[in-house]
Amino acid sequence: MYAVPVALLSALAAVSAAPTPLEEKRQAPFEVTAQAPWNSGAVTQWRVHSSCNSSEAYQIRQGLDEAVELASHAKAHINRWGNSSEIYQKYFGGNPTVEAVGSLDVIINGDRSGALFRCDDPDQNCANMPDWAGHWRGNNASDETVICPTSYEIRRPLAGVCGLGWNVRQGSRTVYWGSDLMHRLWHMPAFGQGYVDHYAEDYELILEAAAANSPNATKDSYGLIYFALEAFAHDVIYPGTGCPGPAGELPASSSSSAAATSATSSAASSASASASVVTTASAAAVSASASALPENCHTHLNGDVHCSEATATISESASATAASAEAGATESGSGENCHTHANGELHCE
Ligand SMILES: *[C@@H]1O[C@H](CO)[C@@H](O)[C@H](O)[C@H]1NC(C)=O
Ligand SMILES: *[C@@H]1O[C@H](CO)[C@@H](O)[C@H](O)[C@H]1NC(C)=O
Ligand SMILES: *[C@@H]1O[C@H](CO)[C@@H](O)[C@H](O)[C@H]1NC(C)=O
Ligand SMILES: *[C@@H]1O[C@H](CO)[C@@H](O)[C@H](O)[C@H]1NC(C)=O
Repeated sequence: MYAVPVALLSALAAVSAAPTPLEEKRQAPFEVTAQAPWNSGAVTQWRVHSSCNSSEAYQIRQGLDEAVELASHAKAHINRWGNSSEIYQKYFGGNPTVEAVGSLDVIINGDRSGALFRCDDPDQNCANMPDWAGHWRGNNASDETVICPTSYEIRRPLAGVCGLGWNVRQGSRTVYWGSDLMHRLWHMPAFGQGYVDHYAEDYELILEAAAANSPNATKDSYGLIYFALEAFAHDVIYPGTGCPGPAGELPASSSSSAAATSATSSAASSASASASVVTTASAAAVSASASALPENCHTHLNGDVHCSEATATISESASATAASAEAGATESGSGENCHTHANGELHCE
């Protein structure tokens, strides 16, 4: 080490303290400017409103962490296997992987400022539709989602995937906190960006779109959620097996959602199940007479009639009555549970 005489140091300081006119124009080499970091103001924690008590906030945050966990595994599966994965091909066909990877990443890493979860009931939808587990506030506050009390009764942890008779094809994709909240996040503009949305109506149509290599497949929120659940079940919960559910035609009625509905209904512990059974039965009757279909049903190329899971989801509620189920199905057009398709059809769940 050099021992620099103090006198020399002060001499140098004196020199540098007397800048020439040229030096005056330059910025001092050691000047520190107060430049904010590039990501100043980033919101990295989920925003839960003060209307949630600490137990509710804990459950919502845990559910959101599970949405991230589910999306993270789905993304990792895609990045590992690409479109050679059979599960990938099942839901996305041979499409490029980048869109699905990006759609999942916005949930994993997107800034959290564009999503607020609240527990009061500003639009009174929880009070009026007791079977609703929550709803997007739509035009009233597009960055906000209300979580209704029903969520705390019926949502399950990811660790329970494949349990209690659940399988990907016939179970409800909203029964897990993680998969339900992925759906709710994509409804918020900051996450879904009006791009990740509902394209194919139900499980069967999602598989048809994938088989046809529809470019919509990799931005279909339900398809992404089914894929995430199936990959998680196959890779994490029951390695190599998973619980995809039966393949091919389902027995009994022509509709897969009829099976889904009865499976869910038998698990449901209340009279609300009767609402969905009635709907399914009437759907079958209608298809037999080949007249107009109920709003939540549609006919496939092969003549099969499929009904959306609207009724299956409603039957999950332990407290819903048949009356409220009907209310939810008929007047929930502005709720998170409903969405309008490009062809103008309104679908609720
Ligand atoms: C929090 O809210 C739940 C309803 O979701 C309620 O059952 C519980 O008693 C509340 N906890 C407290 C400490 O207020
Ligand atoms: C997977 O993607 C590649 C392009 O990256 C494409 O050539 C191939 O046909 C796709 N695979 C399937 C099964 O469609
Ligand atoms: C928005 O607020 C109005 C008035 O309170 C209400 O009728 C409507 O249902 C709300 N929309 C949603 C999506 O909750
Ligand atoms: C993709 O979705 C759009 C909007 O719903 C629809 O108009 C278009 O026909 C779909 N494309 C295919 C190939 O199904």
